[in-house]
Amino acid sequence: MISDKELVELAIKAKEKAIPTYSNFHVGAALLTEDEKIIIGANIENASYGLTICAERTAVFKALLDGERKFKSIAIAGDSDDYITPCGACRQILIEFCGNNLDVIMINKKGDFIKKKMNDLLPYSFGGDFLK
Ligand code: THU
Repeated sequence: MISDKELVELAIKAKEKAIPTYSNFHVGAALLTEDEKIIIGANIENASYGLTICAERTAVFKALLDGERKFKSIAIAGDSDDYITPCGACRQILIEFCGNNLDVIMINKKGDFIKKKMNDLLPYSFGGDFLK
């Protein structure tokens, strides 16, 4: 059983994989599947800034391509004094592919962390049910 603390350490380590060419702000993520697999992600920036992809989304997309569909939690580490929180675009991806019960562990640069449910980070979300 992977502990929150272990997932936090993996997210912090994943920051080393970031390619933050323009902001120099390193972000790492560690996504835990229901059957306890871990997929890491990191932010990758682009000279056309809007094409940048966040750590959370690289982790989710890697996991989906590997066939993973059920997730327990994600830990996110940044270089900020405050606990890093997922951006709006990542919240939409996380709630759709990982569910509103996902535990989101947000870490500050000292390595302290807080944990919230995805539904608390994106209440009243838009989803596929609206399109039926
Ligand atoms: N970033 C993430 O990777 N995740 C977040 O939760 C917030 C922001 C990245 C995007 C960009 O590469 C850099 O941090 C500055 O916004």
